[in-house]
Amino acid sequence: MKIKDRLVEFTKKKRGLLATNFYNLETLHGVLRAAADLNEPLILQLTQSSIDYMGLETAVNLGRTGLKQFGVEGYLHLDHGGSVELVQKCLDAGFDSVMIDGSELPFDENIKITKEVVKRAKKYGAHVEGELGYVAKLGQDHGGGFTQPHEAKTFVEATGVDALAVAIGTAHGFYKKEPKLDLPLLQQIAAITPSTLVLHGSSGVPSKQVQAAISKGICKVNLATEIKNIFMSTLQQELQQSQEIDLRKVFPKATMKITELVKMKLIMIKNENYA
Ligand code: 13P
Ligand code: ZN
Ligand code: NA
Repeated sequence: MKIKDRLVEFTKKKRGLLATNFYNLETLHGVLRAAADLNEPLILQLTQSSIDYMGLETAVNLGRTGLKQFGVEGYLHLDHGGSVELVQKCLDAGFDSVMIDGSELPFDENIKITKEVVKRAKKYGAHVEGELGYVAKLGQDHGGGFTQPHEAKTFVEATGVDALAVAIGTAHGFYKKEPKLDLPLLQQIAAITPSTLVLHGSSGVPSKQVQAAISKGICKVNLATEIKNIFMSTLQQELQQSQEIDLRKVFPKATMKITELVKMKLIMIKNENYA
Protein backbone atom coordinates (compact mmCIF):
# COMPACT_ATOMS: atom_id res chain seq x y z
CA MET A 1 0.00 0.00 0.00
CA LYS A 2 1.24 3.52 -0.74
CA ILE A 3 2.03 5.84 2.14
CA LYS A 4 -0.76 8.21 1.14
CA ASP A 5 -3.40 5.48 1.23
CA ARG A 6 -2.14 4.29 4.61
CA LEU A 7 -2.28 7.80 6.07
CA VAL A 8 -5.77 8.44 4.68
CA GLU A 9 -6.96 5.10 6.03
CA PHE A 10 -5.46 5.69 9.47
CA THR A 11 -6.82 9.25 9.63
CA LYS A 12 -10.30 7.86 9.04
CA LYS A 13 -9.73 5.29 11.79
CA LYS A 14 -8.49 8.04 14.12
CA ARG A 15 -5.27 6.22 14.73
CA GLY A 16 -1.69 7.37 14.25
CA LEU A 17 1.17 6.25 12.02
CA LEU A 18 4.51 6.55 13.80
CA ALA A 19 7.40 8.22 11.99
CA THR A 20 10.74 7.48 13.62
CA ASN A 21 14.10 8.98 12.72
CA PHE A 22 17.13 6.73 12.40
CA TYR A 23 20.82 7.59 12.52
CA ASN A 24 22.78 4.39 12.06
CA LEU A 25 22.35 0.63 11.86
CA GLU A 26 21.56 0.23 15.56
CA THR A 27 18.83 2.86 15.76
CA LEU A 28 17.32 1.51 12.54
CA HIS A 29 17.27 -2.07 13.80
CA GLY A 30 15.89 -0.94 17.15
CA VAL A 31 12.81 0.65 15.58
CA LEU A 32 12.35 -2.10 12.99
CA ARG A 33 12.40 -4.84 15.64
CA ALA A 34 9.55 -3.06 17.44
CA ALA A 35 7.46 -2.73 14.27
CA ALA A 36 8.17 -6.36 13.32
CA ASP A 37 7.28 -7.73 16.76
CA LEU A 38 3.96 -5.85 16.76
CA ASN A 39 3.32 -6.23 13.03
CA GLU A 40 2.73 -2.49 12.68
CA PRO A 41 3.69 -0.24 9.76
CA LEU A 42 5.94 2.76 10.28
CA ILE A 43 7.67 5.61 8.52
CA LEU A 44 11.48 5.76 8.57
CA GLN A 45 12.70 9.33 8.51
CA LEU A 46 16.03 10.83 7.51
CA THR A 47 17.06 14.41 8.09
CA GLN A 48 19.70 16.23 6.08
CA SER A 49 22.23 15.67 8.87
CA SER A 50 21.56 11.92 9.01
CA ILE A 51 21.91 11.78 5.22
CA ASP A 52 25.20 13.70 5.48
CA TYR A 53 26.36 11.36 8.24
CA MET A 54 25.63 8.06 6.45
CA GLY A 55 25.67 9.13 2.81
CA LEU A 56 22.47 9.21 0.80
CA GLU A 57 22.85 5.86 -1.00
CA THR A 58 23.89 4.06 2.16
CA ALA A 59 21.06 5.56 4.19
CA VAL A 60 18.44 4.65 1.59
CA ASN A 61 19.78 1.13 1.14
CA LEU A 62 19.97 0.59 4.89
CA GLY A 63 16.36 1.67 5.26
CA ARG A 64 15.09 -0.44 2.36
CA THR A 65 17.00 -3.61 3.15
CA GLY A 66 16.14 -3.20 6.83
CA LEU A 67 12.42 -3.13 6.02
CA LYS A 68 12.82 -6.26 3.94
CA GLN A 69 14.98 -8.05 6.50
CA PHE A 70 12.50 -7.39 9.32
CA GLY A 71 9.42 -7.90 7.14
CA VAL A 72 8.02 -4.48 8.05
CA GLU A 73 5.63 -2.37 5.97
CA GLY A 74 7.43 0.93 6.01
CA TYR A 75 8.13 4.06 4.06
CA LEU A 76 11.21 6.22 3.57
CA HIS A 77 10.65 9.89 4.25
CA LEU A 78 12.84 12.99 4.08
CA ASP A 79 12.33 14.89 7.36
CA HIS A 80 12.58 18.72 7.29
CA GLY A 81 13.88 19.04 3.75
CA GLY A 82 15.42 22.50 3.56
CA SER A 83 15.80 22.97 -0.19
CA VAL A 84 14.40 21.88 -3.54
CA GLU A 85 17.86 20.49 -4.39
CA LEU A 86 17.88 18.12 -1.41
CA VAL A 87 14.31 17.05 -2.14
CA GLN A 88 15.28 16.34 -5.74
CA LYS A 89 18.19 14.14 -4.65
CA CYS A 90 15.91 12.20 -2.33
CA LEU A 91 13.29 11.75 -5.06
CA ASP A 92 15.98 10.43 -7.38
CA ALA A 93 17.17 8.10 -4.62
CA GLY A 94 13.70 6.60 -4.35
CA PHE A 95 12.15 8.13 -1.20
CA ASP A 96 8.43 7.40 -0.82
CA SER A 97 7.82 10.77 0.76
CA VAL A 98 9.55 14.11 1.18
CA MET A 99 9.03 17.05 3.48
CA ILE A 100 9.76 20.56 2.33
CA ASP A 101 9.97 22.76 5.39
CA GLY A 102 9.22 26.30 4.36
CA SER A 103 7.84 27.20 7.77
CA GLU A 104 10.37 29.96 8.33
CA LEU A 105 9.59 31.60 4.99
CA PRO A 106 6.90 34.23 4.41
CA PHE A 107 3.55 32.59 3.55
CA ASP A 108 3.76 33.26 -0.20
CA GLU A 109 7.30 31.92 -0.47
CA ASN A 110 6.38 28.85 1.54
CA ILE A 111 3.56 28.24 -0.94
CA LYS A 112 5.90 28.76 -3.88
CA ILE A 113 8.63 26.35 -2.76
CA THR A 114 6.11 23.74 -1.58
CA LYS A 115 4.27 23.93 -4.90
CA GLU A 116 7.53 23.35 -6.74
CA VAL A 117 8.23 20.26 -4.64
CA VAL A 118 4.70 18.92 -5.23
CA LYS A 119 5.22 19.35 -8.98
CA ARG A 120 8.50 17.43 -8.90
CA ALA A 121 7.25 14.71 -6.55
CA LYS A 122 4.31 14.00 -8.84
CA LYS A 123 6.64 12.60 -11.50
CA TYR A 124 7.90 10.06 -8.97
CA GLY A 125 4.53 9.27 -7.43
CA ALA A 126 5.98 10.51 -4.14
CA HIS A 127 4.10 11.89 -1.17
CA VAL A 128 4.76 15.47 0.03
CA GLU A 129 4.60 17.03 3.49
CA GLY A 130 4.72 20.78 4.02
CA GLU A 131 4.79 22.84 7.21
CA LEU A 132 2.81 25.89 8.12
CA GLY A 133 3.20 27.68 11.41
CA TYR A 134 6.38 27.18 13.35
CA VAL A 135 7.44 24.15 15.40
CA ALA A 136 10.54 25.32 17.29
CA LYS A 137 13.83 23.67 16.45
CA LEU A 138 15.88 21.73 18.98
CA GLY A 139 17.12 23.98 21.77
CA GLN A 140 15.06 26.99 20.72
CA ASP A 141 12.16 28.44 22.60
CA HIS A 142 8.96 28.62 20.68
CA GLY A 143 9.42 31.72 18.59
CA GLY A 144 6.84 31.61 15.85
CA GLY A 145 3.11 31.38 15.67
CA PHE A 146 0.66 28.54 15.70
CA THR A 147 -0.95 27.34 12.47
CA GLN A 148 -4.03 29.36 11.54
CA PRO A 149 -6.91 27.24 10.22
CA HIS A 150 -7.78 29.44 7.23
CA GLU A 151 -4.14 29.77 6.22
CA ALA A 152 -3.80 25.99 6.46
CA LYS A 153 -6.75 25.51 4.13
CA THR A 154 -5.40 28.05 1.65
CA PHE A 155 -1.92 26.55 1.87
CA VAL A 156 -3.05 22.99 1.20
CA GLU A 157 -5.31 24.05 -1.67
CA ALA A 158 -2.68 26.28 -3.26
CA THR A 159 0.17 23.77 -3.00
CA GLY A 160 -1.52 20.39 -3.34
CA VAL A 161 0.50 18.91 -0.44
CA ASP A 162 -0.60 15.53 0.82
CA ALA A 163 0.35 16.18 4.43
CA LEU A 164 0.74 19.25 6.59
CA ALA A 165 2.85 19.68 9.72
CA VAL A 166 0.98 21.93 12.10
CA ALA A 167 2.19 24.10 14.96
CA ILE A 168 -0.21 23.54 17.86
CA GLY A 169 2.12 23.75 20.84
CA THR A 170 4.81 21.11 20.31
CA ALA A 171 8.53 21.75 19.90
CA HIS A 172 11.49 19.63 18.85
CA GLY A 173 13.50 18.04 21.67
CA PHE A 174 12.45 17.83 25.31
CA TYR A 175 10.43 20.49 27.10
CA LYS A 176 11.33 22.73 30.01
CA LYS A 177 7.77 22.42 31.24
CA GLU A 178 5.01 20.08 30.15
CA PRO A 179 3.59 21.22 26.81
CA LYS A 180 -0.08 21.89 26.41
CA LEU A 181 -1.37 21.23 22.91
CA ASP A 182 -4.03 23.53 21.53
CA LEU A 183 -6.63 20.88 20.73
CA PRO A 184 -9.49 23.25 19.84
CA LEU A 185 -7.16 24.87 17.28
CA LEU A 186 -6.25 21.45 15.90
CA GLN A 187 -9.90 20.56 15.60
CA GLN A 188 -10.56 23.75 13.63
CA ILE A 189 -7.62 23.03 11.33
CA ALA A 190 -8.73 19.43 10.79
CA ALA A 191 -12.29 20.47 10.02
CA ILE A 192 -11.32 22.61 7.01
CA THR A 193 -7.98 21.19 5.84
CA PRO A 194 -8.18 18.32 3.36
CA SER A 195 -4.72 16.86 4.06
CA THR A 196 -3.12 14.43 6.46
CA LEU A 197 -2.03 16.27 9.60
CA VAL A 198 1.40 15.76 11.14
CA LEU A 199 2.55 16.24 14.72
CA HIS A 200 6.22 17.16 15.00
CA GLY A 201 8.13 17.25 18.26
CA SER A 202 6.27 14.45 19.96
CA SER A 203 9.22 13.53 22.25
CA GLY A 204 8.32 14.69 25.73
CA VAL A 205 4.61 15.08 25.02
CA PRO A 206 2.53 13.00 27.47
CA SER A 207 0.81 10.03 25.77
CA LYS A 208 -2.63 11.30 26.73
CA GLN A 209 -2.03 14.50 24.76
CA VAL A 210 -0.66 12.68 21.73
CA GLN A 211 -3.72 10.44 21.80
CA ALA A 212 -6.04 13.39 22.17
CA ALA A 213 -4.34 15.01 19.16
CA ILE A 214 -4.80 11.82 17.13
CA SER A 215 -8.45 11.69 18.03
CA LYS A 216 -8.76 15.31 16.81
CA GLY A 217 -7.16 14.68 13.43
CA ILE A 218 -3.39 14.12 13.71
CA CYS A 219 -2.20 11.01 11.88
CA LYS A 220 1.58 11.09 11.34
CA VAL A 221 3.42 11.32 14.67
CA ASN A 222 7.12 12.21 14.48
CA LEU A 223 9.48 10.84 17.11
CA ALA A 224 13.22 11.51 17.25
CA THR A 225 14.72 12.85 20.50
CA GLU A 226 13.39 10.09 22.77
CA ILE A 227 15.03 7.52 20.48
CA LYS A 228 18.41 9.27 20.59
CA ASN A 229 18.13 9.83 24.31
CA ILE A 230 17.32 6.25 25.34
CA PHE A 231 20.03 4.92 23.04
CA MET A 232 22.76 7.24 24.28
CA SER A 233 21.91 7.11 27.97
CA THR A 234 21.87 3.30 27.88
CA LEU A 235 25.13 3.22 25.96
CA GLN A 236 26.81 5.66 28.33
CA GLN A 237 25.84 3.48 31.29
CA GLU A 238 27.10 0.35 29.56
CA LEU A 239 30.43 1.93 28.77
CA GLN A 240 31.03 3.15 32.30
CA GLN A 241 31.16 -0.42 33.56
CA SER A 242 32.90 -2.01 30.65
CA GLN A 243 36.26 -2.27 28.95
CA GLU A 244 34.72 -4.14 26.02
CA ILE A 245 36.35 -3.40 22.69
CA ASP A 246 34.05 -5.58 20.61
CA LEU A 247 31.56 -2.90 19.67
CA ARG A 248 29.03 -5.51 18.58
CA LYS A 249 28.67 -6.52 22.20
CA VAL A 250 28.23 -2.96 23.44
CA PHE A 251 25.30 -1.82 21.30
CA PRO A 252 22.59 -4.51 21.72
CA LYS A 253 21.25 -3.30 25.07
CA ALA A 254 20.85 0.25 23.79
CA THR A 255 19.21 -1.07 20.62
CA MET A 256 16.83 -3.17 22.72
CA LYS A 257 15.87 -0.11 24.77
CA ILE A 258 14.85 1.63 21.52
CA THR A 259 12.72 -1.40 20.67
CA GLU A 260 10.96 -1.18 24.05
CA LEU A 261 10.36 2.56 23.65
CA VAL A 262 9.06 2.28 20.09
CA LYS A 263 6.80 -0.64 20.98
CA MET A 264 5.22 1.49 23.67
CA LYS A 265 4.73 4.34 21.16
CA LEU A 266 3.35 2.02 18.46
CA ILE A 267 0.72 0.75 20.87
CA MET A 268 -0.03 4.25 22.17
CA ILE A 269 -0.62 5.77 18.72
CA LYS A 270 -3.10 3.04 17.77
CA ASN A 271 -5.31 4.95 20.19
CA GLU A 272 -7.43 1.90 20.96
CA ASN A 273 -8.18 2.85 24.52
CA TYR A 274 -8.64 6.55 24.00
CA ALA A 275 -11.75 7.61 25.87
P1 13P B 1 11.16 15.20 18.67
O1 13P B 1 12.64 15.17 18.52
O2 13P B 1 10.68 16.18 19.68
O3 13P B 1 10.60 13.84 18.85
O4 13P B 1 10.59 15.71 17.25
C1 13P B 1 10.76 14.86 16.12
C2 13P B 1 10.37 15.53 14.84
O5 13P B 1 9.51 16.39 14.78
C3 13P B 1 11.05 15.08 13.62
O6 13P B 1 10.61 15.81 12.51
ZN1 ZN C 1 10.10 17.80 13.06
NA1 NA D 1 9.56 17.28 21.48
